[in-house]
Amino acid sequence: MPIAKISPSLLSGDFGILAAECKRMVSHGADWLHMDVMDGHFVPNITIGAPVISCLTKHLNAFLDCHMMVSHPEKWVDDFAKAGASLYCFHIEATQDASALIDQIHAAGMKAGVAVKPKTPISTVMDLGHKMDMCLVMTVEPGFGGQRFMAECMPKVKELRAKYPDLDIEVDGGIAPENIDAAAKAGANVIVAGTSIFKADDISGTIESFRTIVNTEQDLLAKK
Ligand code: DX5
Ligand code: ZN
Repeated sequence: MPIAKISPSLLSGDFGILAAECKRMVSHGADWLHMDVMDGHFVPNITIGAPVISCLTKHLNAFLDCHMMVSHPEKWVDDFAKAGASLYCFHIEATQDASALIDQIHAAGMKAGVAVKPKTPISTVMDLGHKMDMCLVMTVEPGFGGQRFMAECMPKVKELRAKYPDLDIEVDGGIAPENIDAAAKAGANVIVAGTSIFKADDISGTIESFRTIVNTEQDLLAKK
């Protein structure tokens, strides 16, 4: 049974003190740290690259969940591996040969994730379920934090979970206390949240409650 992993999105953190923000999230109980990498082509925004990841890993010993919103994901695999990234999640829309890219990521020593945008059918990744380590089902159009959760993406999570009971399934975008139930019920177990965690009055409590809700639903799903 896949267990809950809570992955705060550092996009909502203070980039001027990024390592401290990472440590703060770990001290509040974060399992993973979600790093949004954007190149200005795949999405209309630019964030960070491997040099920043490399600086961070000198200060941290944490699982870095790198969400690559970039046009040529195969280009950066080795740089991110050298920089100390733990998981390299590329977008299915950005590659011609996802299977070869997963092999490249594994050969570089990272876990491989495959992301799908809200309008991309889940059928595009269905056959990769045994090969990828994680599937990221986007619940907003990628590019910016603070957007509204798209509940209409939940059937994709459900379909994937039905076929792959042990796969890590991540949701990203607009996740908050008011919709975590829907994501957990559909079968998501890796929870990315920027705004709702960074802006919470009680960050540890929010992370803990996301974890409890996800693990409770996973337990129910396993008994079905
Ligand atoms: C959006 C990013 C998300 C974003 C989530 O393109 O992939 O990781 O930071 O932020 P919230 O939780 O605020 O929607
Ligand atoms: Zn993301």
